[in-house]
Amino acid sequence: MLNDVVPMTDKFLLAVNRDTQLSVTQQIFRGMRDAILKGTLKQGSRLSSWQDLAAQLGVSRGTVKRAYDLLRDENLVETKGRAGTWVSTALPVSPALQHPGPTEPAGLFYDFDVGPQYFQLGVPAYDEFPTKPWHTAWRRAIAAEATRPQIYPDPRGISSLRLEVAGYLATARGIRCHPDQVFITSGFAGALGIVLNAMEFRGQAAYVEEPGFPRTRQALEQSGITTIPVPVDRDGIGLPRSTGAARLAVVTPGQQAPLGMTLSSDRRSGLLRWAADADGWIIEDDYAGELQLSGHAAPSLASEDSDGRVFYIGSFSKTLSPGLRLGFLVVPPSLTARFGRFVGHLAPAGPVVAQRAVQNFMSGGHFLRHLRRMKTLYAERKSILVEALRQELHPAVRCEFEGALSVRLFLPSIANDVAIATSAQREGLGVLPISAWYQGRNPPQGLLLGVANVRARTVSAKCEMLARILAS
Ligand SMILES: Cc1ncc(COP(=O)(O)O)c(C=O)c1O
Repeated sequence: MLNDVVPMTDKFLLAVNRDTQLSVTQQIFRGMRDAILKGTLKQGSRLSSWQDLAAQLGVSRGTVKRAYDLLRDENLVETKGRAGTWVSTALPVSPALQHPGPTEPAGLFYDFDVGPQYFQLGVPAYDEFPTKPWHTAWRRAIAAEATRPQIYPDPRGISSLRLEVAGYLATARGIRCHPDQVFITSGFAGALGIVLNAMEFRGQAAYVEEPGFPRTRQALEQSGITTIPVPVDRDGIGLPRSTGAARLAVVTPGQQAPLGMTLSSDRRSGLLRWAADADGWIIEDDYAGELQLSGHAAPSLASEDSDGRVFYIGSFSKTLSPGLRLGFLVVPPSLTARFGRFVGHLAPAGPVVAQRAVQNFMSGGHFLRHLRRMKTLYAERKSILVEALRQELHPAVRCEFEGALSVRLFLPSIANDVAIATSAQREGLGVLPISAWYQGRNPPQGLLLGVANVRARTVSAKCEMLARILAS
């Protein structure tokens, strides 16, 4: 919601949004910094005095002054005593060089600087994080790092974390693997890049789920791989009868993304048989791991892979934080040397301190405890969300909520889910359009709502807001 929009020059409007978590000081600072770097606020031009701007925006003078101080710290403005504040004539970066075109990846992402928005998908609950043991794990990791010799770390990831992950996978996901099969990666995305490149899949084709995670589809296409969409039904993905078209399949068997069903046991064996017979490979995206909200989590597909055909990928993005950029890849035993060489040259694991913090957290028993708590919390949050949606939404909107960490709303086919999601996001509701998860023509129209950050106190008001947007 734009509460106050203030003209600074004829071209530049400064907007302050009071509904976000980003402080007003930061909003003013970032708005002006962007305008200066884009050249909208010209070099050598005078800014409104902070007193005037504060009055226009209805914020305190101190708030604006702090924003101006931040601009000055970055040498973007100069203060000339009583003559006021001026856009620097010697900018650290020339505005002319600041326009390489859009660089932020479009599509599935939200604003990188704010949030999470209400209903935002793919992020953990931020209010229930076990911050105390997490801080302790980091403090210990930093202390260990500070005294460690300055040598290159193992590009596969530190051995203690790989050992910890192998142990976790054995108990929680039924995977029996040697720690040398485990590679620490930059989340699922990093692991996917490693598999696609190390296995030289460029130029080949891959079966993907329809609907399926758009970032996976885009990553495959960007890597020169043709994607063949295979519809999922209530049993998950069922490969076509004639499967000669591809030797790779990328799947989410634990919790189909975004529809939430678990791959049935017949389909699991069918998929594994196909890979063994066709000299094929399966990438298992176990993004939500054991965060399956009802009953026991289904075992991973990799746990049933006796032919060494599955690349298993897990991520800490949903369980700890996407900001960690940490995930883990388990490769079949016959490929450990090949992957070891590949990551050593092109994709070494990230900062040791983060790896060590996660390892401390896991070995202290906090990770499993946290997962157990989150399973209960997310199930509760989902049920209050479903209840509120039932109260607020028009009966023509079909609500699906089994499986997954999301609720799916299916809209009449004449709806435009991209436009609806855009309007909703502008009002702080982080819903995603479901059509973006389909590759085929005339995709269903609908919305995905994440449950992790739903609260009993606010859920009715947010659902009412969504219902209003849907009705408009
Ligand atoms: C289907 C799916 N796979 C993987 C991920 C995690 O990706 P990453 O580990 O790169 O954050 C997500 C997160 O949104 C997801 O929805």
